Amino acid sequence: MVTKQRPTVIWLHFAECTGCSESFIRSTRPWIDQILLDIINVAYHETIMAPSGHNAEKSLSDAMAKYDGKYILVCEGGVPTKNDGIYGRVGGRTMLEIAKETTKHALATICVGNCACFGGVQAAAPNPTKAMSVSEATGIKTVNVSGCPPNVINMVSTVVHFLLLGKLPALDDNGRPLFAYGQTIHENCPRRSHYENGEFVKTFGDDGAMKGYCLFEMGCKGPNTYNNCPLIKFNDGTNWPVGAGHPCIGCSEPNFWDEQSPFYVS
Ligand code: SF4
Ligand code: F3S
Repeated sequence: MVTKQRPTVIWLHFAECTGCSESFIRSTRPWIDQILLDIINVAYHETIMAPSGHNAEKSLSDAMAKYDGKYILVCEGGVPTKNDGIYGRVGGRTMLEIAKETTKHALATICVGNCACFGGVQAAAPNPTKAMSVSEATGIKTVNVSGCPPNVINMVSTVVHFLLLGKLPALDDNGRPLFAYGQTIHENCPRRSHYENGEFVKTFGDDGAMKGYCLFEMGCKGPNTYNNCPLIKFNDGTNWPVGAGHPCIGCSEPNFWDEQSPFYVS
């Protein structure tokens, strides 16, 4: 039986849809049960933890006290900040208050998903709750594993990099690990030869779509989107958006809901 102390992770949910957790629990390399039982100690995660209510909040305060300055904080979701953050609460405290407190005592903060990294859908115009990224809301530097949702391989690789090498991976100007976000979708897209040949899908379901032509004229944002989806795909390498015939909507880019829309061109 393995008895060595596993690194502690506190995983917080702010304003989000839990899609990033859904992506995370589909890990197959290693399997999610290996991650949770053998590799890391998840002290708090609202979706998968056993305690609820006051006991859940006690789990968080106990973990923070026990692993003060030693835990890895993973944040999922944007942080509402308008009117002192009253539009997002967990256990009676604002998400803003929780974010400020937990980031201050963390060894490192890793944001997963576009909401935690850049504000996400709740920060889209008109942004009624003044939601923003964890970094903007707290003033600390975060590692941003972006995407909507991010790929589990990129989430796990970032954590494993930190655990094995004792340091965070090299990042781009948006805080994203370069090993995953160093190239555009377009650079590695299997439809790229069609782009170069001027062979484009003109409408969903047309002859070009059947032939796997380029989706640029349907609104594909692959040329301006940094992510490794074509290389690692989703669901254990099953498929990815462009592979399924859908244009990339730029989900790993800052403020993509506003800046990459309209998603479709007709
Ligand atoms: Fe580039 Fe998108 Fe065309 Fe792929 S489908 S070649 S990412 S424009
Ligand atoms: Fe997102 Fe584009 Fe990949 S929409 S999942 S970055 S193909």
